[in-house]
Amino acid sequence: MSGGVLRLAALAMLAAAAAAQSDAVVLKNSRMEVHILPTGATLQRVLVPGRKKGEMVDVVLGFDEEQSYRNGSNPQMGSTLGRVGGRIAGARFEIDGVEYRTSANAGNDTMHGGEIGWDRRQFSVVDKGEEGNSSWVTLEYQSPGGEMGFPGAVNCTVTYTLRDDEDGEYGRLEYEVKAVTDQPTPVSVYLHPYFNLAGQGSGSVLNHTLVMNSSYLVPYAGQTPVPSGEFAPVAGTIYDFQTPTALGKHVDSPKLEWLGGYDNVWALFGLGADAVGAMQDFQVAAEPQWAAKLLDPESGRGVEFYTTAPAMIVYTGNGLDQPGKDGAQYKAHDGVAIEVGQFPNAVNTPTFPSVVLRPGQEYVNRAAWRFTQDRPAKQPSNAE
Ligand SMILES: *[C@@H]1O[C@H](CO)[C@@H](O)[C@H](O)[C@H]1NC(C)=O
Ligand SMILES: *[C@@H]1O[C@H](CO)[C@@H](O)[C@H](O)[C@H]1NC(C)=O
Ligand SMILES: *[C@@H]1O[C@H](CO)[C@@H](O)[C@H](O)[C@H]1NC(C)=O
Ligand SMILES: *[C@@H]1O[C@H](CO)[C@@H](O)[C@H](O)[C@H]1NC(C)=O
Ligand SMILES: *[C@@H]1O[C@H](CO)[C@@H](O)[C@H](O)[C@H]1NC(C)=O
Ligand SMILES: *[C@@H]1O[C@H](CO)[C@@H](O)[C@H](O)[C@H]1NC(C)=O
Repeated sequence: MSGGVLRLAALAMLAAAAAAQSDAVVLKNSRMEVHILPTGATLQRVLVPGRKKGEMVDVVLGFDEEQSYRNGSNPQMGSTLGRVGGRIAGARFEIDGVEYRTSANAGNDTMHGGEIGWDRRQFSVVDKGEEGNSSWVTLEYQSPGGEMGFPGAVNCTVTYTLRDDEDGEYGRLEYEVKAVTDQPTPVSVYLHPYFNLAGQGSGSVLNHTLVMNSSYLVPYAGQTPVPSGEFAPVAGTIYDFQTPTALGKHVDSPKLEWLGGYDNVWALFGLGADAVGAMQDFQVAAEPQWAAKLLDPESGRGVEFYTTAPAMIVYTGNGLDQPGKDGAQYKAHDGVAIEVGQFPNAVNTPTFPSVVLRPGQEYVNRAAWRFTQDRPAKQPSNAE
């Protein structure tokens, strides 16, 4: 009995300490809770119901303390990437015949916005509220002209909305980015969440299955992680996730050895050589379209990805090696980062839809994650 009281006291202290550690904005629907941090407009926690009554399971990786997100060794856990997510090869590009050079922070390339990307910048909360079982928060970042070498100032807002799901699943988390500029500049802003649907800190995700609406890989030019600009059919390759396939099935393929696992780009929605013409104003459609589903067959928890963007990037956490939330110690493949956004190095690749935002135009990128519960799959039988 006294053990229970002590545990309650300890829990209260932990809760107080957690509150003191971060300025998370907490969004709730009737079954879920998500925590958003101003640093990087970061998705810090996604809590969905566990198996036991009252238990909540956190299905994204991250850190307890907001300051850890500014640590140079943080692999952008759950954060918003900007001004341009992914690589800009050679840390250079041209717009209207003028060359710009940006911060080279990954070899000779610019990665995720440069040495101090938006994932390490302080956003401000400009609006939040709730209505019925939905709640939302809008965060803003004003990126000055010349930041990390990019031309023009950019004002960007990120809005998260957590709603109940119409079909009774755990819920739907929506993510909307809007941006404007005063000079032509590349913009590609998207979220970089790492999922582990068995619960963050519970070990490898290689048993999770992934299915995506993609028939084309966006291959790299040799052994550098920069797209060649081509589109390669996935059918029959280790990149074929057109039917649910375990992430671990081919993760040890010699083709992936130089990357340590998957760290690849796919074109969504049948987009291939027609990608440029098929898109308008940064979007494939005005409303987010179903793009993929990640499932943990053991717990039956799933997340479905919806997006207005043309590309999906899957990184099987090959370089993870750091302490995380709630005493976790993350190792390689303990989470999978799945991002929906524009194509990497689009600003230098004519076969990819343009990411150049111009004054008077509005950049819009909308995504949603639907958290689901399948009935737990049947255990494999030894008799077979
Ligand atoms: C960077 O560019 C220089 C000069 O072209 C080249 O020698 C070097 O190998 C490149 N480094 C990387 C990491 O690609
Ligand atoms: C909110 O969710 C609860 C529990 O599912 C439900 O009873 C209630 O009707 C919902 N309220 C609204 C406004 O949808
Ligand atoms: C960003 O917002 C500030 C403050 O409202 C405004 O002064 C500035 O002109 C805006 N910049 C752009 C690029 O719209
Ligand atoms: C993955 O599945 C295999 C076979 O069912 C099982 O032996 C292993 O423990 C699972 N690994 C994890 C991390 O769940
Ligand atoms: C995949 O994308 C294509 C092109 O947008 C669409 O026609 C098709 O319905 C999508 N498939 C699924 C399962 O959503
Ligand atoms: C940054 O992260 C590394 C690796 O987890 C850790 O060793 C180091 O203490 C952290 N630094 C700060 C200032 O938090």
